[in-house]
Amino acid sequence: MISPVFTPTCAEMTIKKVCCLGAGYVGGPTCSIMAYKCPDIQVIVVDKSKQRIDEWNSDVLPIYEPGLDEVVKQCRGKNLHFSTEIETAIKEADLIFISVNTPTKTFGYGKGKAADLKYVELAARDIVETVESGFKIVVEKSTVPVKAAESISTILHSKQKAGVEFQVLSNPEFLAEGSAITDLLHAERVLIGGEQSPKGKLAIGALSWIYQHWIPEEKILTMDTWSSELSKLAANAFLAQRISSINALTPLCEETGADVSEVAKAIGKDSRIGSKFLQASVGFGGSCFQKDILNLVYICESLGLQEVAAYWNSVIVINDYQKRRFSLRIVHRLFNTVTDKRISILGFAFKKNTGDTRESAAIHLSKHLMDENAKLAIYDPKVDKQQILDDLSHPYISEDPSRVARLVTIHQSAYEAGQGSHALVICTEWDEFVKLDFRRMYEIMEKPAFVFDGRKILDHEALISIGFEVETIGKRFNQSANRLDDF
Ligand code: UDX
Ligand code: UDX
Repeated sequence: MISPVFTPTCAEMTIKKVCCLGAGYVGGPTCSIMAYKCPDIQVIVVDKSKQRIDEWNSDVLPIYEPGLDEVVKQCRGKNLHFSTEIETAIKEADLIFISVNTPTKTFGYGKGKAADLKYVELAARDIVETVESGFKIVVEKSTVPVKAAESISTILHSKQKAGVEFQVLSNPEFLAEGSAITDLLHAERVLIGGEQSPKGKLAIGALSWIYQHWIPEEKILTMDTWSSELSKLAANAFLAQRISSINALTPLCEETGADVSEVAKAIGKDSRIGSKFLQASVGFGGSCFQKDILNLVYICESLGLQEVAAYWNSVIVINDYQKRRFSLRIVHRLFNTVTDKRISILGFAFKKNTGDTRESAAIHLSKHLMDENAKLAIYDPKVDKQQILDDLSHPYISEDPSRVARLVTIHQSAYEAGQGSHALVICTEWDEFVKLDFRRMYEIMEKPAFVFDGRKILDHEALISIGFEVETIGKRFNQSANRLDDF
């Protein structure tokens, strides 16, 4: 049910100041582009973390995103501001984005599945306590379970003061990390969900007006709030489902000798299927896919829709299987033991061009190898040493953090990590790994030297001719076929 975009007609709907609660991967880049494209609007991004705000105000931004530095440098101090003055920002803003994180619950009811809406609720409470007058549009940008906007609205209206009016909109984010700036500048669609009342439509119109500074009107879809919220979950579930579908074919390819890249190319040529998101891998990661699917599963289970819940959950089941399968293959090829063997993990981010490690396949792979007592030499061009150690020491990953200290070293280059190692394991598809001097690498490694390419980015024939033993996803090499027969 898509209704036409409204142009605001009331003076009270003119947006002069925008504030965003949460200066994270979503709030930061989104507001930076908004400021860049809307010089007539003042944009203030606030966060409860002083450290994060200090970083946004420094020369080294807290997140790595190609193109972001230039945009921030151009607008910061003019119409883009980063601050911890949350109350002032809320009071002065005409429109408030809620862009705080919504992690999966790790406790209580819905543990491991439902989204923890604690921060979203706190944000709504902050808003209602702070706002003293005027018409405020509150925009839910965090990915939330369907009907969260209704909860926000209930909180806002429960304590609403005289002379204050709120409208709540859903405006889900579709940017992907590593290409956030391009995704924001050239969005395929902008989705705005809101109440289908005259005031709701005016609020939708006001937010559309902001986007119309750079997005063509026909790409701005407006609909009811619930449809908008569900569309975000569904979009991520569909994308993840494609990856699990192609990954589900990889063991079949490895067993039978087919090449999954050829299969992906062939199916992707069918325009009804399309070629994107058919890249077989060691498993998808990131802050959204798993969390959003678990959310969808949880909602379905809560509604008694067991078959639907099981269907979407299988996307996660295949992803877990894929990560586990790859690490088992490493152990198997390294003569069924990796105890005390040095294994180089190349790439720790959940994909290239980001320093984000949330749900990265590398974390799970490292866990499996640590469980087998392997010594891990890890290198990632953009992930901090401390981040890697924190991820591996998390109680969900390691019951005994002293094992991490004993088994893991972090390195400054791929060669440093590769020195004296039995195997290289490519976990992230960083371009610099493709350009490595593999002859040099071969010389400094133990023999036989193995490469496990979890991203299918290397020239495998060239590696074999150097002398490497090579394994990748969804393809079997003759050498490994012979070797497997030995077991
Ligand atoms: C976003 C979305 O909001 C999330 O729902 C989606 O699924 C993933 O992307 P993201 O921007 O990646 O989250 O999260 P994060 O980078 O952790 O940033 C959230 C920020 O909000 C943090 O800087 C945190 O300090 C801040 N925050 C959190 C507050 O300012 N107040 C709070 O109460 C909670
Ligand atoms: C995703 C959605 O793409 C974006 O629209 C949404 O707003 C947030 O969630 P993001 O998680 O940043 O974005 O990255 P994405 O490029 O979708 O990759 C997610 C994971 O899937 C990565 O680990 C990536 O390596 C993996 N992937 C992606 C594959 O394994 N194969 C593919 O073909 C594509």
